[in-house]
Amino acid sequence: LPGAEVLIVSNREPYIHNKEGGQIAIQTPASGLVSALEPVIRACGGTWIAHGSGTADRETANREDKIDVPPGAPSYALRRIWISDEEQDGYYYGLANEGLWPLCHIAFVRPQFRQSDWEQYRKINRRFADAVIHEAKTEDPVVLVQDYHFALVPRMIRQSLPRATIITFWHIPWPNAETFSICPWKEEIIDGLLGSTILGLHTQFHCNNFFETVDRFVESRIDREHATVTSKGHETMVRAYPISIEWPPAALAGQPPVERCRTEVRQAIGIAPTAKLAVGIERLDYTKGILDRIKAVDDLLTRDPSWKGRFTFLQVAAPSRGKLASYSSLREEALALARDINSRHGDAAYQPVRLVIQHHESAEVFKLFRAADVCIVSSLHDGMNLVAKEFVASRDDERGVLVLSSFTGAARELAEALIVNPYNTQEMSSALAAALRMPPNEQQERMRLMRQQVREWNVYRWAGRMLIDAAASRQRQRILA
Ligand code: G6P
Repeated sequence: LPGAEVLIVSNREPYIHNKEGGQIAIQTPASGLVSALEPVIRACGGTWIAHGSGTADRETANREDKIDVPPGAPSYALRRIWISDEEQDGYYYGLANEGLWPLCHIAFVRPQFRQSDWEQYRKINRRFADAVIHEAKTEDPVVLVQDYHFALVPRMIRQSLPRATIITFWHIPWPNAETFSICPWKEEIIDGLLGSTILGLHTQFHCNNFFETVDRFVESRIDREHATVTSKGHETMVRAYPISIEWPPAALAGQPPVERCRTEVRQAIGIAPTAKLAVGIERLDYTKGILDRIKAVDDLLTRDPSWKGRFTFLQVAAPSRGKLASYSSLREEALALARDINSRHGDAAYQPVRLVIQHHESAEVFKLFRAADVCIVSSLHDGMNLVAKEFVASRDDERGVLVLSSFTGAARELAEALIVNPYNTQEMSSALAAALRMPPNEQQERMRLMRQQVREWNVYRWAGRMLIDAAASRQRQRILA
């Protein structure tokens, strides 16, 4: 798309400026969306429009709430949108995270739909759409709208910039029509998304669910052959684009050799240099199956006590959406479960489960991945899951075993992982035992194939495939005009 202007819209900003003891500290958030998109916009330049969520964000703003990032090596502009606490309660905590998040993940947390949340959601979607319209210098920019926070934005932009190329990516699963019909504003949400030129989802399964939902609830023409939906005279292409990570990952640069990572991490958490270590690293979220994997550790130590003293499970969980009861109670439950297992299987010197609820920057996360024998990703449901791909990318020594939930998009690509059903505790603990015992040559064979997959299907390919489809659509538009 030579010469096209690129704008990204997401709720989460790539750099959060926080005030810490009179100083400004910059944090990069734990967000699959951010880790995928940041390298893309760093490469192509443009403007990223996001919620200014840090405690010092307003102070770092210069002109029009806009700053150049990344700090120290700027290559694009970050435009921050201000949202009040009340708006945040309705739009972000309410509709997005208590409504659409559990609805689309089918995570057995009842989705909550409140009229007042919907009104805030609509208002904030309008604010972000207006920012795009204001920022756009051309009448046909390429706008990348990200995720379930902004279902209404594509249609809003389309109304003011009819020639814009709007690429919307839905980072979470799309459930079947029956499930989606729970949402009181399903028609508006679908209509909003159908303002897009391209709507991307992670898998064909999610695309099929979307078509089925459109078919049931909005007046439209669906062309399965060309994967398009035409509604209100506008055509949207709906396709699967499996998201990925940059290759090679920036967080790998400057990492000590694997042997040093192994020694230093074991020393830091006080376990023997030869002890086996499994890790789980993600946001503290009920869709991730964190309790389920701790239960599998319990099962392993119960069925085979010879692991006691020789094996430790380290769970690093970044605090997330803590204002919501479903998240704060998960924290309590996880802490209680870890305490219970440690008291039954451990003693003063040996604590089999280490639960660290704290944010870690990606260099630290990569060091833990490199120190581990096993990484467990046991999501109950996940659109893609980039942690699995980051673990694979971190292991340039071609060692380490990935235990991966079959309910992640990633399981479709990383077939050489040990694929498990996280609801089946025995199956998971057996997979964990197999992972801990896997001979190095088998680890290498599996890891090599997984690395090849992630290297080839990296995030530039993800973005590239969408941009190629967008370029073809712009060309068609020019010919037809
Ligand atoms: C998921 C969502 C992203 C979100 C991330 C972190 O990956 O798809 O949109 O940014 O979780 O969640 P948070 O609410 O902290 O942005």
